[in-house]
Amino acid sequence: MCEQDKSKKSGLPPMGAQDFSEIEDWTGYFNAVLGKGARDTLIAALDSFEHEEFYNGFAVDLAAGEGRDSLELLGRNWRVLATDNHPEAFSYLWARVPEKLKPQLTTKEVNFCDMKFPECDMVNASFALPFCEPQHFEVLWNKIVASIRPGGRFAGQFFGDRDTWASLPNRSHHSRKEVLKLLEGFSIEMMREEERDDPPELRKPKHWQIFHVVAKKN
Ligand SMILES: C[S@@+](CC[C@H](N)C(=O)[O-])C[C@H]1O[C@@H](n2cnc3c(N)ncnc32)[C@H](O)[C@@H]1O
Repeated sequence: MCEQDKSKKSGLPPMGAQDFSEIEDWTGYFNAVLGKGARDTLIAALDSFEHEEFYNGFAVDLAAGEGRDSLELLGRNWRVLATDNHPEAFSYLWARVPEKLKPQLTTKEVNFCDMKFPECDMVNASFALPFCEPQHFEVLWNKIVASIRPGGRFAGQFFGDRDTWASLPNRSHHSRKEVLKLLEGFSIEMMREEERDDPPELRKPKHWQIFHVVAKKN
C-alpha cells in the first residue's frame, strides 16, 4: 500500500520526509525527497569556490542519502566520494548520474564511526551530523576538520539544543555556542539559524532549530 493510501486509511496526514527522519526510515526518506534540488549550503559553498576561480575540486559528501548534493557536485565537475551507511542509498544516486560523469564518483557504504576521510577541498554534510551517535561525534568532527585542506570548506547543518529531536537518543545536537566552538579554525561564511514551529496540520509537528553553515578552513 502506498503512503497516500495508508494515510487515507488511518485518517492521519501523510508521512513526510521529517516523519521518516524521526524514525530513521531512510528508504521512506529517500523516496520522499527524491528529485529535490541541492541544499542551499552546498550551493553557497560551491559559489564561493567559483568566485575564487576554483573549479573541479574533490568533495566528500557525508551521509549523502539519495544523492541530491552529489549530483550537484558532479554537475559542476567535482570529483565526489559519497558515503552513507544505508545499503540502498547509492542505487538512487547511480541511476541518475550521467554516463560521462560516472568516473568522477566513488560511493562507499560506511558508518560515521568507521569513516576514513581522504584529504579534500570540501566536506559536505547536509542534514547528516545530527544523526551521528553522540559518543562518536567528537571523533567524526575531528576527522572532518583534519581532512579539509587549508582554504577548503565545510558545508552542512547542525541541529540545535532547542530542537524537538534533541531529546531523542542517539542524536547529536548543539547549542549555538557549541557550534561556534566546533568552527574554531574556520572563517564562517554562512551561519543561518532557523528556528520555527511546524504548522499544526502536519502529521507530527515539531520545533526546529537548525544552523545552516558554510565555513572556510583557515
Ligand atoms: C536526513 S538524511 C540526509 C541525506 C542527504 N544528505 C540530504 O541532504 O538529504 C540522513 C542520512 O544519514 C544517513 N545515516 C544515518 N545514520 C548514519 C550513520 N550512523 N552512518 C552513516 N550514515 C548515516 C542516512 O542513511 C541518511 O541518508
